Amino acid sequence: IEAEARTRISEAESLGALETLRVEYLGKQGSVSALLKTLGKMSPEERQEKAPKIQGLRQAVAGALADRKQAMEAAELEARLAAETLDLSLPEPAEPKGSVHPVSQVMDELAEIFADLGFAVATGPEIEDDWYNFTALNMPESHPARAMHDTFYFPDQAPKGGRMLLRTHTSPVQVRTMMAEGAPVRIIAPGRVYRSDSDATHTPMFHQIEGLVIDRDIHLGHLKWTLETFLKAFFERDDIVLRLRPSYFPFTEPSVEVDVGYSVEKGRRVVGGSGDAPGHAWMEVLGSGMVNRRVIEMSGLDPDEWQGFAFGTGVDRLAMLKYGMDDLRAFFDGDVRWMAHYGFSA
Ligand code: PHE
Repeated sequence: IEAEARTRISEAESLGALETLRVEYLGKQGSVSALLKTLGKMSPEERQEKAPKIQGLRQAVAGALADRKQAMEAAELEARLAAETLDLSLPEPAEPKGSVHPVSQVMDELAEIFADLGFAVATGPEIEDDWYNFTALNMPESHPARAMHDTFYFPDQAPKGGRMLLRTHTSPVQVRTMMAEGAPVRIIAPGRVYRSDSDATHTPMFHQIEGLVIDRDIHLGHLKWTLETFLKAFFERDDIVLRLRPSYFPFTEPSVEVDVGYSVEKGRRVVGGSGDAPGHAWMEVLGSGMVNRRVIEMSGLDPDEWQGFAFGTGVDRLAMLKYGMDDLRAFFDGDVRWMAHYGFSA
């Protein structure tokens, strides 16, 4: 029996097969157990002779089972360890990484440039009311300039009677900041604005950055210096030339539109040099002016004591100019290939 049991045990391929063998030999009905039971019916002499042999057989079979089981478990562990081996010298697989969007990048750059000039960052709501977006900026109900803004209005009246709308520019933040903080003021206000307009250079949602300085004895020279300093820092060039053109905004008086000189190199606009130089032209980059005294008044300050300047510019346009993009709509498609093409991938 022992030889046969050893062979069968050593050939068992699974723990299940081993258990079957254990029952077959050592279980209640097992063949070795049956032998043990015969001991009771033997004469003392016979029992003395056979008992050690049968006990020995039982122990031999039990031992073989235990050995085989241990060997199987060891082999299984070995296999698992082999399968789970980590090769720490393998280079990590190239995972695609996210990157900062050009608009966020430019907003960060602008915040940093203006922080160096002592400007804090202010914010206002994108859902505005008529009063902040228009009336307080010297555009009463019937003002024709309102029509130029292609405003998205909400259908319901606001509690105080004004209509709610998606702000068409960041200029309402001028009023909110003066009302909340008084004077002096030195802030920029970046954010989303909305106009019902869409083509290669217009999207219904775009980004502006507003600047506002209110203090005593502020004049146009401060505005010109600030814009020049900021544009040179932003485009990282010393040869930026500005052209200030008289213009009109209801909330500034006088109003000034600002152009920068540029040339076209390899099909791409490159800012720098006078727009009047050969091969150069002017491009409008922002609107600005001295804050209209009526706006200062409506914001709760005394216009005889406080004056200032304001400017507003399109962040997306600045990004296009600096990084060479030509279609504004692509900014908001969320296509990582477009980002990568313009160098915005990690
Ligand atoms: N709010 C104006 C616009 O959206 C820009 C501007 C801001 C002009 C501040 C003058 C002063 O066109």
